[in-house]
Amino acid sequence: MTPRMKKTTSPAEAGQILSAVRRKGLSTGFVPTMGGLHEGHLSLVRMSLARSDYTVVSIFVNPKQFGEGEDFDRYPRAAERDSELLEELGCDLLFVPAAGSLYSDADRTSVSVSSLGDHLCGAARPGHFDGVLLVVAKLLNITRPDHAFFGQKDAQQAVIIQRMAADLDFPVRIFLGPTVREEDGLAMSSRNRYLSAAERAAAPKMRAGLLAAAEAIEKGERDASALKKIVIAGMAAGGFEIDYVEVVDGRTMQPIAEASGTVLLAAAGKMGSTRMIDNIAMKVGPEGAGETLLEFPGWSRYER
Ligand code: PAJ
Repeated sequence: MTPRMKKTTSPAEAGQILSAVRRKGLSTGFVPTMGGLHEGHLSLVRMSLARSDYTVVSIFVNPKQFGEGEDFDRYPRAAERDSELLEELGCDLLFVPAAGSLYSDADRTSVSVSSLGDHLCGAARPGHFDGVLLVVAKLLNITRPDHAFFGQKDAQQAVIIQRMAADLDFPVRIFLGPTVREEDGLAMSSRNRYLSAAERAAAPKMRAGLLAAAEAIEKGERDASALKKIVIAGMAAGGFEIDYVEVVDGRTMQPIAEASGTVLLAAAGKMGSTRMIDNIAMKVGPEGAGETLLEFPGWSRYER
């Protein structure tokens, strides 16, 4: 019989459990989430299970990464179901930090990565990435995993976290998982459940626009403004209120005029009252172009 998944709400206890695991010589993998788990999250958990002897998943709806007027209060919470799904998969430890156990009024330290957050979601959601970095830094220090897993779905987040981990010498190897999608191409997201039936039907148009731009790159289009127009047309066809459509360098997250090297096509928009994001990353060279993940293990000294 497989041993039952352990659960804790205490950062200190999570740290102790993982220290004991490490003392046994087992490798550890970590998947941070905000819960409302779907196949996108679960794919990262499977990656961790495949690569690590011991897998810990955290669920914490991090107040610091939500801006005023954003959906912190109504963010989907599904603790029971999430726990069952993780246990079925074979997750070893579920860490659900109790409200108030990660932050206190005495805290004075922040973490921010310069320039990578100037565009895309960083511009649209001021303070968002500082909130993400703070909680990810804390969770990595509490769990001290060998491997941590993030989704390409949140490409800018994944790049910023890799930069932080490299710059601050977090002794962790970061892996990215590809975006998991519904059959019609819609990227899975906890927020998809906010959509009405009509909105749900129109939502794949963002993906369709990005895919059309990626196909244009494959056929030789390199001009960023032409590529953006293609994405915008797709999103307009779905009735999105566009937040941004950008073509940026995959490493620096700075806008580029010509698609070459590692390129991120990224879009965000509102479908009704639901904010949605999606992206495609491409390696674009003289010989051709193809989809890629924004995974940069070379940034880190800790290739474990
Ligand atoms: P959350 O939105 O719950 O996502 C947790 C992880 O799952 C992230 O690495 C995200 O990129 C990944 N993910 C979400 N949807 C995905 C999909 N369709 N396919 C593949 N991966 C997907 O991202 C966060 O939480 C938070 O910002 C967090 C990193 C936990 C810090 O609070």
